[in-house]
Amino acid sequence: MSKENSLKAVIFDLDGVITDTAEHHYQAWKAIANELGIPFTREFNEKLKGVSRMDSLKLLLTQAKTPVSYSDEEMEQLADRKNKIYVDLIETITPADLLPGIKEFIAEIRSSGMKTGIASASKNAIAVLTRLGVMDQFDVIVDVVKLKNSKPDPEIFLTAAAELEVEPNNCIGVEDAASGVDAIKAANMFAVAIGNSANFPHADIVLSSTAELNFQELARAFEGN
Ligand code: BG6
Ligand code: MG
Repeated sequence: MSKENSLKAVIFDLDGVITDTAEHHYQAWKAIANELGIPFTREFNEKLKGVSRMDSLKLLLTQAKTPVSYSDEEMEQLADRKNKIYVDLIETITPADLLPGIKEFIAEIRSSGMKTGIASASKNAIAVLTRLGVMDQFDVIVDVVKLKNSKPDPEIFLTAAAELEVEPNNCIGVEDAASGVDAIKAANMFAVAIGNSANFPHADIVLSSTAELNFQELARAFEGN
């Protein structure tokens, strides 16, 4: 293994990777879609994963049977309503809601002397991580409010690497969204996707569930890459 290519950090997306809040986001958007009479399927919801709140709303509105148009103020109100529903849903989150294998995976990374970071597009990330009781498990949590570009732009992963003081090519990124995997690859990192392999043509490795995350195996795959 060359020094330039040694593994130093694992950077995680949050929603759908650390915990199943991707489902809570879906439920909250579904409630808004129902209110507006807009068809909204789980399949279409895949496109919203990793996408900011306002951009998700814009995508949802493209599903209206007849074109809809809202003022900026109305758009803000709709996004706020979605967020209130989401915030209510995440109130019940406890440490038991960490996805399978995540606690052990992070413990293994940290005991191997590697760093950990969170690269989430969610403004609710700190609230979710606090409820999960894992704030102290991450060396860096990127503040999305300070960023200019959304996934698939690499900015959030590059910011995480810079704050962790590691080079991007020394990092693994873990994502459940196609836009997130594209952001990891654009950042020149090794991409691990969680979900259906058909959704992730650009990932280096696709695992069907977080239960399959194994640090030693991933470290070997990273080194051989
Ligand atoms: C991402 C989710 O992590 O955060 C998206 O995958 C969500 O579904 C985005 O829209 C923004 O989240 P929030 O909590 O700021 O509305
Ligand atoms: Mg996600």
